Amino acid sequence: MKYLVIQLLFVIINAYHPIAILYRGTVCGWAETTTDQPILCNGLDPRHSCPINYTQQSFQEGVAYCYKTNSTSEPQNGLIGTICGGLARNPCGGISPAVACPPGYIQDFRHVCYKNSSKIEDLSGTFCGIVNDGTGVTCDGVQLGKCPKGYVAINYDEQKWHACTKE
Ligand SMILES: *[C@@H]1O[C@H](CO)[C@@H](O)[C@H](O)[C@H]1NC(C)=O
Ligand SMILES: *[C@@H]1O[C@H](CO)[C@@H](O)[C@H](O)[C@H]1NC(C)=O
Ligand SMILES: *[C@@H]1O[C@H](CO)[C@@H](O)[C@H](O)[C@H]1NC(C)=O
Repeated sequence: MKYLVIQLLFVIINAYHPIAILYRGTVCGWAETTTDQPILCNGLDPRHSCPINYTQQSFQEGVAYCYKTNSTSEPQNGLIGTICGGLARNPCGGISPAVACPPGYIQDFRHVCYKNSSKIEDLSGTFCGIVNDGTGVTCDGVQLGKCPKGYVAINYDEQKWHACTKE
């Protein structure tokens, strides 16, 4: 009985705070080869290192970032520096990053938003599984061009770039 009540409470809490699984491929930090203003992932420059449980990725086009190495089994939020909106002119939390960013996010001169707190939920527009010219990992390891539940595929620049964004 006690167990059931706890279960029910958990379901209710989750219904009101729909924190999601943090998928493999979720993007954190962003830095071009020569920039002096990198977006840090939890304080680390993705050109040099990434936080625990995140992996470094760099593209020939000269961009480096960190991505979540494995999907979590429990709901979890992305770290400070998690990227939302911007790429392919996607909004973050329904707002264009060229104009502004939602609370808890910082607007970057690149016209992307990035998280300034790991306590808040990752908003719609959060990027996962960026693949450029065949390099990179897909979101949650799904087939290229597809996305896990709750994410939509974007394919841009004549199929040179593939990514998923949170719905
Ligand atoms: C990710 O998952 C793989 C396969 O289950 C495992 O071997 C590896 O140790 C995990 N890596 C991290 C950083 O958790
Ligand atoms: C890294 O991932 C493992 C496996 O999911 C988890 O147990 C551990 O707490 C994580 N470490 C950090 C620093 O987040
Ligand atoms: C980022 O978060 C810190 C700590 O909560 C806060 O002091 C700072 O003003 C925030 N920065 C922006 C640009 O929102």
